Amino acid sequence: MVAVRNVISDLEGSYALAVLWSGAPDALVVARKQAPLIIGLGEGEFICASDTPAIVNFTKIILPLEDEEIALLTPLGIEIYDFNNERQYRNPISLQIADQVSYKKNFKHYMLKEIYDQPDIAKYWLEKYLIKNLETDQFQINYSFDTEFFNSIERIEIVACGTSKHAAMVGKFLLEQFSGIPTNVFYASEFRYSPPPLLPNTLTIGVTQSGETADTIAAISMEIKRRSSIEDTNYKPNLIAITNRIESSIGRLIPNVINISAGIEIGVAATKTFFAQLLSFYGLAIKFSQIKGSQSNENINQLISELTKLPALVEELLEKHNESSEKLAHDFFNIKDVIFLGRGINYPIALEGALKLKEISYIHAAGYPAGEMKHGPIALLDKKVPVISIATPGEVFDKVISNAQEAKARDAYLIGVAPQCNGTEIFDYLMTIPSTNEWISPLLTIIPLQLLSYHIAAHRGLDVDQPRNLAKSVTVE
Ligand code: M6R
Repeated sequence: MVAVRNVISDLEGSYALAVLWSGAPDALVVARKQAPLIIGLGEGEFICASDTPAIVNFTKIILPLEDEEIALLTPLGIEIYDFNNERQYRNPISLQIADQVSYKKNFKHYMLKEIYDQPDIAKYWLEKYLIKNLETDQFQINYSFDTEFFNSIERIEIVACGTSKHAAMVGKFLLEQFSGIPTNVFYASEFRYSPPPLLPNTLTIGVTQSGETADTIAAISMEIKRRSSIEDTNYKPNLIAITNRIESSIGRLIPNVINISAGIEIGVAATKTFFAQLLSFYGLAIKFSQIKGSQSNENINQLISELTKLPALVEELLEKHNESSEKLAHDFFNIKDVIFLGRGINYPIALEGALKLKEISYIHAAGYPAGEMKHGPIALLDKKVPVISIATPGEVFDKVISNAQEAKARDAYLIGVAPQCNGTEIFDYLMTIPSTNEWISPLLTIIPLQLLSYHIAAHRGLDVDQPRNLAKSVTVE
């Protein structure tokens, strides 16, 4: 322990270390700085890892090391010290994870299994978070923290990376257009070095399924620090974390946690956690609308009623599209570029569709707001570049169809993610989705896109669950 302590005092940068010494084979010394390290308490054994999925099949009792801590693990127990050599005392915690979640069932890949988990996630979300108040007969969103502070919130800033940022962008749409709260979404990696000027009465939301993304944690920590240094209480940090790991670094940093409760996700490509993050934003939008009175009860009830149909709708989509997207994948597995278009609430879904495809199939894909095509990206189009347009009935439906027409005029093969309705005959191939209220459409349009990406990557014979160069938790800057 003394030797490890001496060495780490000379180390720079981030690390999570586990050190063995042949002179004490029963002991292990672990230390961390700006990188996660958890200790699992198994039966007669300790297990160290950077992330809970690695140990969840061995134990559900964990003791996360906090930043700049060192621990000695021996058959007698665990001794934890901070880097100033002060002994630290705290109890292990139990992971709240259902037993079956980390098994692949009969699916070929975890990613496909996780896509199929989504109807259950919707069911669970409805049961856990949508509670009917029997006195008022109104539904309420059951978040476990005190939401009193929502009253004073005038604006929201959200920090996230990758797929979580796309969920946050749908969240922004809901929070602004449904709940009327000005909202900005930032790449966490940008926010931490160029944050916007501080404004009062701001809610900061960190979105991260793993709860360990270094950029997101750093952005939130920076925001807590700069807000806490101001005396005016209007500038105090108001924080929410949206995560799948309440025991993670973000769960320990922020007291108000929305647990997306998606169960462990093994596939590096986020699918079910994206879906569950979206649901959390629906919950927030409903909550804010009720508190601020920004939507009529009728509109809120209509949204809630649409959400209650989700488990059946998502199941129907999986049934309808699994085989057909496998067939489509046969025709498309050799393409080089794909363009995804969406508008309004489905623009982030175009971005997410493109991210899913590129990260697991290594095919270049880009998402655009459909109206932007004519400002440059249209130059890329010819018959070798398929265009996938998300067109859901609503305010921008005609616009998306006319943007698709512009692509067709350049010989692009058009795939539509849309209901069977007037206008959609323009598509060479239609991935049909049910005709529902536009507000909930992202929860449906993402499903065929996940399936298509999965089947293209699987058809190319790639390691779908562990794509090259990517990690499930990005714990480095
Ligand atoms: O754990 P997080 O949600 O913070 O992860 C953020 C990104 O690293 C993550 O979404 C990444 O883009 C995934 N590979 C997407 O599938």
